[in-house]
Amino acid sequence: MDGNLSFDAPAAAKAAGELPAHKYTRERITWIRRWTDHLFSFRLTRDRGYRFVPGQFARLGLYRDDVHGERRGPRYVWRAYSIASADYDEHLEFYSIVVPEGDFTTRLAQLRIGDQLLIEKQAYGFLTLDRFEGGRDLWLLSSGTGIAPFVSILLDLKAWERYERLIVVHSVRHASELAYRDTIEGLRAHEVFGEALADNPARLVYVPIVTRERIDGCLHARIPALLGNSSLEAAAGVTLDPQRSRVMICGNPDMVDDIRRHLSNAGYAVSRRGQPAQMAVENYW
Ligand SMILES: Cc1cc2nc3c(=O)[nH]c(=O)nc-3n(C[C@H](O)[C@H](O)[C@H](O)COP(=O)(O)OP(=O)(O)OC[C@H]3O[C@@H](n4cnc5c(N)ncnc54)[C@H](O)[C@@H]3O)c2cc1C
Ligand SMILES: NC(=O)c1ccc[n+]([C@@H]2O[C@H](COP(=O)([O-])OP(=O)(O)OC[C@H]3O[C@@H](n4cnc5c(N)ncnc54)[C@H](OP(=O)(O)O)[C@@H]3O)[C@@H](O)[C@H]2O)c1
Repeated sequence: MDGNLSFDAPAAAKAAGELPAHKYTRERITWIRRWTDHLFSFRLTRDRGYRFVPGQFARLGLYRDDVHGERRGPRYVWRAYSIASADYDEHLEFYSIVVPEGDFTTRLAQLRIGDQLLIEKQAYGFLTLDRFEGGRDLWLLSSGTGIAPFVSILLDLKAWERYERLIVVHSVRHASELAYRDTIEGLRAHEVFGEALADNPARLVYVPIVTRERIDGCLHARIPALLGNSSLEAAAGVTLDPQRSRVMICGNPDMVDDIRRHLSNAGYAVSRRGQPAQMAVENYW
């Protein structure tokens, strides 16, 4: 893995193969929330030694009960999952899609409270605040389950110390998929950030986008189109400007590419190791 933010995380995440036992711990599911028939969140117990930086992802492993006998393939299937909980929480929370016939998610969706998963001891990823220097507004642009790492970042005191404004943009097909809306809006009553937000409500901007139905209070077009005609900035009440904006993009790789192309033309570059710039990106597949 190099320091370039565009390293092939999907390939790296699936390449875990058969990890030696000292590289992972076994954790239990303690909580499940089902948002729709194909979206759910779950919590795992957290090993006391497990460390991560908000925005990073874990590699989760599930036992393959269809592999029997001698060396018929890996016994576990591993996938990357962004951590949605705060780094100070005792548990680890994840937000998952269920892909029809997906090797991992069809198994994951069947698990119940008390069941076990494997988690690699090491956390990974470059979608973290330390990729940036300067800047006053932090834009968090996501599609689908790509909102997960941004929930963890929003729960991080450092994000509120470093940036004057945090603008969270979540694009989904249907309104029922606007997961974590309550958590994000609930930050206004948070025991730590609530007071600062009460004094200056404009420090947090949440922009929900629903692309396949019309919903009051939600935008109704893809993020690149909304950037192209400035309606995302109008809805947020904040102007994008490479001097003051730092932008994280996470989710659908086509969306990531389209936004990256748009912002590159406007003078933004992707941060690299030792070369902080204005964008950090993560592709989910
Ligand atoms: C760095 C990183 C972080 C990730 N974090 C998350 C996360 O927090 N939550 C999550 O649900 N997934 C996340 N993923 C995707 C995850 O690793 C798996 O791909 C996903 O769980 C599906 O696994 P699968 O084996 O069922 O299907 P796969 O064989 O892995 O994928 C099959 C197809 O399903 C679609 N797909 C895969 N993942 C998604 C998704 N999340 N949303 C919409 N379509 C998808 C793609 O078209 C993909 O080609 C992340 C991936 C990476 C690389
Ligand atoms: N969401 C569902 O109803 C549903 C149900 C069951 C299974 N699935 C499966 O789950 C997978 C994807 O689900 P998903 O809805 O989480 O992810 P998604 O297809 O990535 O859609 C999430 C959001 O990203 C937008 N988007 C997609 N491509 C984009 C691009 N190039 N630029 C900008 N925005 C873009 C979508 O807009 P658009 O609406 O314009 O595409 C939508 O608002 C698919 O394989 C699907 O078959 C989805």
